[in-house]
Amino acid sequence: MEHTVTTLPATREPGCPFDPPAELIDARRHGPISRYPFPDGHEGWLITGYDLVRSVLADPRFSSRKELMRHHPLIDFGEIEVPPAPPGEFLLMDDPQHSRYRKPLVGKFTVRRMRLLTERVEQVTADHLDAMEKAGPPADLVTAFARPIPAVIICELLGVPYEDRGSFQDNIDKFLGGETGDEELFAAYTATQRYLAELVAAKRANPTDDVLSDLTDSDLTDEELQGIALILLSAGFDTTANMLALGTFALLRHPEQPAAWRADPALTDSAVEELLRYLSVAKTFMRTALEDVELGGRTIAAGTAVILSYNTANRDPERFADPHVLDLGRQDGGHLAFGHGIHQCLGQQLARVEMRVAFPALLNRFPTLRLAVPAEEVDLRPEAADVYGVKSLPVTWDV
Ligand code: HEM
Repeated sequence: MEHTVTTLPATREPGCPFDPPAELIDARRHGPISRYPFPDGHEGWLITGYDLVRSVLADPRFSSRKELMRHHPLIDFGEIEVPPAPPGEFLLMDDPQHSRYRKPLVGKFTVRRMRLLTERVEQVTADHLDAMEKAGPPADLVTAFARPIPAVIICELLGVPYEDRGSFQDNIDKFLGGETGDEELFAAYTATQRYLAELVAAKRANPTDDVLSDLTDSDLTDEELQGIALILLSAGFDTTANMLALGTFALLRHPEQPAAWRADPALTDSAVEELLRYLSVAKTFMRTALEDVELGGRTIAAGTAVILSYNTANRDPERFADPHVLDLGRQDGGHLAFGHGIHQCLGQQLARVEMRVAFPALLNRFPTLRLAVPAEEVDLRPEAADVYGVKSLPVTWDV
């Protein structure tokens, strides 16, 4: 009998904020692919196994095009046509359109370029830790540390004046936080587009030393530049911010792990990869089959929607030994937290630099860091959020 998952998003077990929902772990136990009947009646699939998720991501017969994503666990589009992604928003496009936008950006996010940023990330991190220390305990780690560090860096990289962050940060929260109604979401999107239109016009008039100004020296239109800026701003800080906050929460719940990290700074690279695997904050993406595809012994018919569960794939026992254990020294590698294939995260080297700097700096600055509230009271994002994480993280330390 084919395994069927009936309700998405499934909910996490109380007291297990870091583990994928039990229903998804159970689905993986039945096999790497399950049936998922969407609320609109469409018969789709849910993929929870590592190998199958990876093979879909590498297969051009599965599309990321927005206009094909007509089925959604939470939205019934009915007869409404889903429009294609606006110009520049290449996350929801296939090649060749996708690579037209991605190509000019790749060179700006290389390992070498991002390493050159390390000193700046160290400075920004130190400034925020100084402010946190000066204000004294308790603190909300989200507002004092996890959000502002990636926000300052992505603003500087793109050439967005940091004073303007209020104009887009709250709106981006609304896009990705999973708790905003349609009307408010539309208003947030419109306000962000208006802001980005002004920003692109300003860069064209007075180019400065940043990614967006560089791109004005290309054949991309203003509308396309706005779309690119939106993707980079929204993908570029909320994900890392949630990794830093949820990652700190996870470390504080497994105190032997940060103790080992403090004692051995050489753990940093594997520790960051393990936190990425273990938490997989960008937990679910969708694809649509462009033709009939044989997958895991099933035929995925052309036009069928496939939900890829990155967080369950990253806990697949056939790929990772003791997958539900947080082990900062783990050497398995190859997690899917940044995806795989043509859409693999463009900003992954930036995110790595930020986490490799910020986590150890925090742990070393506050050796007695601990939660200031019982773990059950930490305010988590709902499963409906595109990016999982904590809304706030009250912490304290000895002075
Ligand atoms: C820890 C932090 C991050 C995580 C977990 C993450 C995760 C991901 C994932 C899973 C995808 C693939 C989506 C898919 O398969 O359809 C992706 C794509 C992307 N990410 Fe990230 N990301 C992070 C940080 C960043 C940063 C800092 C940037 C800043 C530039 C960024 C920019 C992008 C862009 C532009 C794409 C779209 C790539 C494409 O479609 O070709 N991400 N990210």
